[in-house]
Amino acid sequence: MRKTLSRAVLGATVLGLAAMAAPGSAAAGPAPSERQVTDLVPAPVQAIADPAASFRLTPFTVIHAGRGAGDVATYLRGLLRPATGYPLPVVPVNPGRSTISLDLGHADPRVGSEGYQLDVTKSGVRLRANTSAGLFEGVQSLRQLLPSAIDAKTVQHRTWTIAGGSVLDYPRFGHRGAMLDVARHFFTPAQVKTYIDQIVQYKINTLHLHLSDDQGWRIEIKSWPRLATEGGKTAAYGDPGGYYTQAEYQEIVAYAASRHITVVPEIDMPGHTNAAQATYAELNCDGVAVPPRTDIEVGYSSLCIGSPITYRFVEDVIRELAAITPGKYIGIGGDEAHSTSAEDYRAFYEKVSPLVAKYGKLITGWHEIAKTPLPTSAVPQYWDQGGPNADVAAAAARGNKFIMSPANRAYLDMKYTAETPLGQSWAGLVEVRDAYDWDPATFVPGVGEQSVAGVEAPLWTETIRTNDNIEYMAFPRLPGIAEIGWSPQEARNWDGYRERLAKQAPRWVVQGIDFYRSPQVDWRG
Ligand code: ACM
Repeated sequence: MRKTLSRAVLGATVLGLAAMAAPGSAAAGPAPSERQVTDLVPAPVQAIADPAASFRLTPFTVIHAGRGAGDVATYLRGLLRPATGYPLPVVPVNPGRSTISLDLGHADPRVGSEGYQLDVTKSGVRLRANTSAGLFEGVQSLRQLLPSAIDAKTVQHRTWTIAGGSVLDYPRFGHRGAMLDVARHFFTPAQVKTYIDQIVQYKINTLHLHLSDDQGWRIEIKSWPRLATEGGKTAAYGDPGGYYTQAEYQEIVAYAASRHITVVPEIDMPGHTNAAQATYAELNCDGVAVPPRTDIEVGYSSLCIGSPITYRFVEDVIRELAAITPGKYIGIGGDEAHSTSAEDYRAFYEKVSPLVAKYGKLITGWHEIAKTPLPTSAVPQYWDQGGPNADVAAAAARGNKFIMSPANRAYLDMKYTAETPLGQSWAGLVEVRDAYDWDPATFVPGVGEQSVAGVEAPLWTETIRTNDNIEYMAFPRLPGIAEIGWSPQEARNWDGYRERLAKQAPRWVVQGIDFYRSPQVDWRG
C-alpha cells in the first residue's frame, strides 16, 4: 500500500505566526480562552490569533444581516439562542456596537465562492463573503470559536466569548462530500437531517445518497411504484426496510440546501440491482423475478443488458430523479458489476450515459465507469486503494475530474482496529491517522491536483443501523476527510491536526455525538 505523507511544512502560512500569539502572550484582556482561530477544523488558509481581542456575547448583542445575508443570519441566531438564551435579533442596519455582522459581497476576491473572512475584535465580529455559501462556512468557523457549551439545547448560565483574531479562508476543492448508504439499512428523513447537521460543521457541502442496492430500493418512482413499496421492504440481515416518498426526498434535499449541502442521488446499476429485479420480473433476462436477498454478498446481480425494457426502466428512474433533484449530478453507479461482461458493461453505459444529459444533469458514478465513453463533464468517484489504474488515468488525461474516496483511507465503514464492533475490514483497518494522512492529488498516478474535484467519505451501512452507529464510524474520521477537502495541503500535518482534533471532542460530547476515542489522539474532555 502506498503511504503518502503530507508535506509537514507550515512554511510562511500565518498559522505559524499565530502560534506566537497563543495563550500566555495575552496577559491583558479577557480571560484567555482555550480556543483560538488557529484551532479550527478544517485548518484555515490564514489565521492570526489575538486572544486579547475576544468578543463577549451579551443579552444586547445583535446580528446584523447585510443585504442577502438574512438566511445565514437567521441560521446563526438559531445556533446561538438555545444555549445563551439571548434574543440576538437579526437587524438590517448595523447599530455599531455589540454586533455580529454578516456582509455579502465585500470580501477579498481570494475567498471565491465558498470562502469567507472573519474578524473578531473586542468591539464586534465581522464576517464577510462573496456568497451566502461563504457566509455559511464562515458561521461554521465562528461556532468553533465559542465554548463547546454553545451547542447545548438548554440555557447555560455562563459567559460567552468568541476567540479573537482574523481568518481568511477558502477551500482547496469544490467537492467535499459524505455518502450515506440508505439502501443496506434505511435511515429516515429525520435521521438523515441529524447527519447533515453534524457534517456541515466541517464544511462538507455534498451529501451523496446511495438510494438502491441488492438489499433494498429507497426512493419512490411513480412509473414503477413497486420498486419502493415492495423493493423497499427489505434491508441487510433481514432488518426492516423503508423508502422515501418523492415528497420526503425533496424535504431532505430542501433541508440540505438550507445548510448549503447539495444532494447527489445515486441509483446503482447495472449491478447491485437485486431489489429491483426481485420486484419486477421483466428486469430479468429470463422474465422471472429473482428472490429478494438480504445477505451482504456483492457482484451477483445484473440488469438485462440486451433488453429494451431495461433502458425504459433506467430512463424512467433518471427522469423522475432528475425532476426532484436541483443539484447538477445524478449518480449512475457502476461498481462491482461482476456479473456483467465487459462488453455488456460498455454497451449499457453507451445507452445510459446520454440519458443523464437528456434530463439536464451531469454524470457521477463509481470509477469503473471510466472504462466507458464519458463526457468530460462526468465526475467518477475513485474508491480503490491506490496504485496505477490505466482507465482512471486515461479519463483524467481526457479531462475528467475525480472524487477521491479511496477505501483504505476514506471509507467510514472500515473498522478502526480489529476490535471495532461495527464495520468491515476488506480494505484494511483505517485508524484516524490513516484517514487523515494522505493527499488526494498524489494518491493515484495520473490523477493530480487538476484532476481532483474533491474528496468524499462514504459510509456503507451493512453493519450500521442507528445514528449512534453512524456517528461512531464518522467521528473522528469524517472531520479529517473534510479537512483534506478544504485545507491547503501545506497547512496540514498529522501532529498539528491531532491537537486541533482533540479540542473538538468537548463539542461532540455536548452535541451527543457518539465518537470513537482513538488512542492516537490525546482527547480533551
Ligand atoms: C464500492 O465500494 N463498491 C463502491
